Amino acid sequence: MVYPRIIAHRGGGGLAPENSLAGLTAAANIGCRGVEFDTMLSADGVPVLMHDDTVDRTTGGSGVVSRLTFAELRQLDIGGEPVPSLAEALARCAELGLWANIELKVAVDADIAALGQSVGRVLAEVWNGHGVISSYSTIALLAAKSQLSRDSDYALLVDDLRPDWRERAVEAGACAVHMAAGWADAAAIASVRAAGLKLACYTVNEYTEGERLLAAGATAVFTDFPELWHSPEPMPEASQILTLRPAA
Ligand code: G3P
Ligand code: MG
Repeated sequence: MVYPRIIAHRGGGGLAPENSLAGLTAAANIGCRGVEFDTMLSADGVPVLMHDDTVDRTTGGSGVVSRLTFAELRQLDIGGEPVPSLAEALARCAELGLWANIELKVAVDADIAALGQSVGRVLAEVWNGHGVISSYSTIALLAAKSQLSRDSDYALLVDDLRPDWRERAVEAGACAVHMAAGWADAAAIASVRAAGLKLACYTVNEYTEGERLLAAGATAVFTDFPELWHSPEPMPEASQILTLRPAA
């Protein structure tokens, strides 16, 4: 699996509301080839794009994502569109030729194995395989893998390199480690690369920091500002730029 160097974080980074279809299109429109988005399950088991445990910050509504049905989530507005399903996001990525990092989000009170299985089933049905599945949870990654008959790529998400990181990466069959940029010093980068794994660092919002990490051996960086690396033309969503930023 070849990673794009620059991956728009939570859909289109700050180019559009986070985890929206508009974000995917905005990222593609500036020439970004890779996107990352977060997946969670609705109360009735439909994988949707959402980062927080609740819908409060990113929609006009309130409530815990895992306690709202898909129909209820569809009533909520994310910058002029309903909460997207994973299937819709994958279709948009395929349409736009985007590489996709599907993150299995470890949410409070959520059934992480059920999330992995449900996402895996959707991926088996509609995904073109252009991208990678990631999670902090090896249980979620293995559950997704159990539903996929063809080879897919997996990445272990970590904050820093705990003593068991290699064992967990092997357990998950990971081709990459996705690590918090603040922990990606020379030793950590060397350890991951020496293990034969790719390394992607999140979330890098300064151009010089991103280039430094890439020069030091990182394979890719996640950013809320993909426009720092890509030409802003053409960009029909220009009025949105710099007005909508994901929370830290
Ligand atoms: O997958 C990398 C990054 O998205 C992890 O952080 O909290 O933004 O999902 P978060
Ligand atoms: Mg994420």
